[in-house]
Amino acid sequence: MEIIRTVSELQSALSKVRNLGGVGLVPTMGALHEGHMSLITRARKENATVVVSVFVNPTQFNNPSDLATYPRTEEADCRLLEAAGVDIAFIPTVEEMYPEEDCRVFNLGPVAEVMEGPMRPGHFNGVAQVVSKLFAFTNPTRAYFGEKDFQQIAVIRRMVELEGGFNNLEIVSCPIKRHEDGLAMSSRNVRLSAEQRSVAPCINLALKASLIKAAEGSLNETRQWVIDTINRYPFMEVEYYEIVDGITMQPVSNWDDTEYAVGCITAYCGEVRLIDNITYNPSSK
Ligand code: PAF
Repeated sequence: MEIIRTVSELQSALSKVRNLGGVGLVPTMGALHEGHMSLITRARKENATVVVSVFVNPTQFNNPSDLATYPRTEEADCRLLEAAGVDIAFIPTVEEMYPEEDCRVFNLGPVAEVMEGPMRPGHFNGVAQVVSKLFAFTNPTRAYFGEKDFQQIAVIRRMVELEGGFNNLEIVSCPIKRHEDGLAMSSRNVRLSAEQRSVAPCINLALKASLIKAAEGSLNETRQWVIDTINRYPFMEVEYYEIVDGITMQPVSNWDDTEYAVGCITAYCGEVRLIDNITYNPSSK
């Protein structure tokens, strides 16, 4: 595996392998866990060359203390990437990614105006900035993202559309990886205390139990039930729970308003902000 820190070296390395077959890109912010590794395994199966970027992107953090405390584990990450058969680890500095301030404002539209949009002002524009740079530098055939950040995938698809498609780049969305107790894997989980860690799976438990509620009750009852159930646990505070159309990300009020209802939640466990989602398929309504 090559560890590359500059854009020019990345482009020159890719120019040598591009005609061997597809290039798969897995953008990450490091602190890799099994969730990332599942994206990498899939990219490895589908592409001749696999590039993983490891970059904690400052422009997508609206909270400076979140940026300061974001886990950074480069050595361990490189060992995992090497073992997974990654060809190139792209690990740039902030100066390399942003030689000058990125003033681009993306017209991300309605998909970015709900849920994480208002809760984290500027976050999605920062994601669009960094991901568009990674796509431009790598020119991948496919790029892989985890469905834990469900809204992020819709935002990235919108950014790709705005930027003209990046040569027919395919955005591949991959299922959430979970711990045995159901907690969605996240780099932030390491910040939970032992007690908080034992409570945090209540998010997934409540979401799963809500599939049964959904079969019996209205959308609004189901939504409120999830919020109340999670809020009853110590340390837990739901920031939002919205049931949205899985394509447009717009909240829906009735089960009949969409064929594809996805419940998206953000909840604090102590100071740690956790995110998860669940699909209400038609047979569960
Ligand atoms: O999901 C993430 O880890 C980040 O938002 C991403 C896509 C790597 C951009 O920094």
